[in-house]
Amino acid sequence: MGLLDGKVCIITGAGNGIGKAHALYFAREGARVVVNDLGGARDGSGRAARPADEVVEEIRKAGGDAVADTSNVATLDGAQNLVWAAINRFKRVDVLVNNAGILRDRSMLNMTEEEWDAVIAVHLRGTFLCTRAFGRAVKAQGSPASVVNTTSLSGLLGNFGQANYSSAKAGIYGFTKTVSMEFSKLNTRVNAVAPVALTRMTEDLPMFQGASADEMGPQHICPVVAFLASDLSEGITGKIIGVQGTKVFEYRMEVSEGIHKPSGMWSPQDIKDKWTDVVK
Ligand SMILES: NC(=O)c1ccc[n+]([C@@H]2O[C@H](COP(=O)([O-])OP(=O)(O)OC[C@H]3O[C@@H](n4cnc5c(N)ncnc54)[C@H](O)[C@@H]3O)[C@@H](O)[C@H]2O)c1
Repeated sequence: MGLLDGKVCIITGAGNGIGKAHALYFAREGARVVVNDLGGARDGSGRAARPADEVVEEIRKAGGDAVADTSNVATLDGAQNLVWAAINRFKRVDVLVNNAGILRDRSMLNMTEEEWDAVIAVHLRGTFLCTRAFGRAVKAQGSPASVVNTTSLSGLLGNFGQANYSSAKAGIYGFTKTVSMEFSKLNTRVNAVAPVALTRMTEDLPMFQGASADEMGPQHICPVVAFLASDLSEGITGKIIGVQGTKVFEYRMEVSEGIHKPSGMWSPQDIKDKWTDVVK
């Protein structure tokens, strides 16, 4: 018995990197997989069917069941077609992994509107459109489901030169929190992973110089996403789980204890005087 036996799992951006590793892992665990990928370059330019087709071929050769989809998750039609691809082929949906992503790094003052919009569109708008299309199908179907989003330490902690990407990924954090509340009515859990893995997206970063594929490859992210996708994580929703190689941990928003003013309202000078208590 596989962990995901019979479940219909849609994985976006599954032609390369982390998404490809998820697709192969999920199929080995018995899932029927919709392998979505636009087949573009790291910055989102271009299109090709080959990456998604090759992953499907690899799954089928290993005895699994999968279908390719080349929809652009950043468009309304693309998100709807993606969910329809699952329903047409497999007659149902159980899991959505929002993983597709691009990078257009630039320091803030030099960033163009196009670089800003393209990154927000794929990550944040794509996560919204795919989750909404998936949620509507789940509602019509009336059975429990799971959504796993992909955020990043860049969005949760910030990263120089990635104002567009970190804004999109921070948006996915807030989206995960809010939609986990709304989708509880659908018996659907919504969590996110914040991965760090050696892929074409990260291979030129200084932190990956000297890192081996064994230590930092995308394969380390898959068991965590499979756990969140599966019934093993029943009751777990609204969580943001970090994965870096063999380390797994939770990202949590911290709120300081704060301080009340004993009487009257605060003045800016009071806040300066009590600053260490405010942030303690
Ligand atoms: N690699 C890391 O260390 C790391 C860290 C934090 C977050 N992430 C996130 O993990 C996810 C996967 O990243 P990766 O490192 O595997 O990158 P990758 O470039 O190897 O894979 C991303 C895939 O998404 C596809 N894609 C891009 N735009 C698309 C669109 N509009 N529609 C459909 N598919 C599209 C690409 O074609 C590509 O195959 C991304 O969301 C990324 O932001 C990665």
